[in-house]
Amino acid sequence: MESKIPGFYKLSPRERLDIVKKFANLTDDEIDILRGTGALSLSNADKMIENVVGVMGLPIGIATNFLINGRNYLIPMCIEESSVVAAASNAAKIARVKGGFHTTSTEPVMIGQIQVTNIKDPETAKNIILKNKNKIIAHANDRKSTIIKLGGGTKDIEARIVEHAGEKMLIVHLLIDCRNAMGANFVNTIVENTAPLIEELAGGQVVLRILSNLATHRLARAEAVFDKQALGGEDVVDAILEAYKFACADVYRATTHNKGIMNGIDAVLLATCNDTRAIEAGAHAYASLGGYHPLTTWEKNSDGDLVGKIELPLAVGIVGGATSVHPVAKVVKKILGIKSARELAEVMAAVGLAQNLAALKALSTEGIQKGHMKLHARNLATMAGATDDIIDKVVKTLIKESKPSFSKAKEIVEKMKKDKVAKN
Ligand code: MEV
Repeated sequence: MESKIPGFYKLSPRERLDIVKKFANLTDDEIDILRGTGALSLSNADKMIENVVGVMGLPIGIATNFLINGRNYLIPMCIEESSVVAAASNAAKIARVKGGFHTTSTEPVMIGQIQVTNIKDPETAKNIILKNKNKIIAHANDRKSTIIKLGGGTKDIEARIVEHAGEKMLIVHLLIDCRNAMGANFVNTIVENTAPLIEELAGGQVVLRILSNLATHRLARAEAVFDKQALGGEDVVDAILEAYKFACADVYRATTHNKGIMNGIDAVLLATCNDTRAIEAGAHAYASLGGYHPLTTWEKNSDGDLVGKIELPLAVGIVGGATSVHPVAKVVKKILGIKSARELAEVMAAVGLAQNLAALKALSTEGIQKGHMKLHARNLATMAGATDDIIDKVVKTLIKESKPSFSKAKEIVEKMKKDKVAKN
């Protein structure tokens, strides 16, 4: 089934669920989980964090039109901000014209850091660590673990000397393949267990043993060609390139540019119950390597079409932690139909690129407020009880108001309903 579903946004949540059910082969129970706004029970919540007193509901919307490596995806996005889901769907629709998104990723390798202080000769200690690489890897992997059985575990090591206030420290990196897990617990356990051996070899004193969220060995990439006609003409391509130059030249703009990218990525992270803070920290740190810059690049090809690319660390998991426990996250993963953590990371990269395209297109042409207002007015009209037969008219009337409000929407809806009855 295609993810291009014209008019999806006009349907009721129930009708949309019927389509998603068919697309992802969901069972009635799974549909009930999505429909039940209290899908996470208090007792399950109580097992996830401490001092639980309640749960927080947020909407999940489906981004349509995504074609990634030739496969159709419906993408569940959990977010409180309006326009984000519509914008992603729109950009994905434009990307489809030239074949959709193409993605790649590296192996799911995390960095576990071990900090060694009080070393007399850091350079010699570094060489000793590197010479004992095989011994350290064997020690790190000498444990019972499903991830290791599946081909994961410590694969390599790095050693760096860093300096603070005249004091040199040796930092040992264990490069740990986490397979389909995000891997925080796996990595932290391994570095804690390996630290005594590092201390014995290097001398000095081990202090911290913890993963790094700057996962430079766990990258996801996506690219797409956006057809110039579908974008609205070559002028729009040029305007988007001007907007991109602004982000390249100015850190204030680059921050907002990247925030727009993370709108999409965070929404998929949340829907799959992945660690949003870890990915945010890693994404912005990655953007700062070599000077803070946009996470995307944009250029025009010889046909005048727009070519976009994105690369960022995306340490996400599809097993372990909340992603395996939360009932909604489990259904979300089924809708995505993802088979590996790498595939999920690549989907997120595609969503980030789509989100950035949509923002740059809106910002460099009509601005974002018009679209925001339209969606806001539609939400108000729905809340005020506008039925399918009058909703478009209500939205149009409401937009003309200088300050569309719920009470104004209610007034318009009631008047239109009354007029309709009088006509009949
Ligand atoms: C708003 O949430 C995101 C944007 O500000 C992103 C951008 O400016 O590129 C529209």
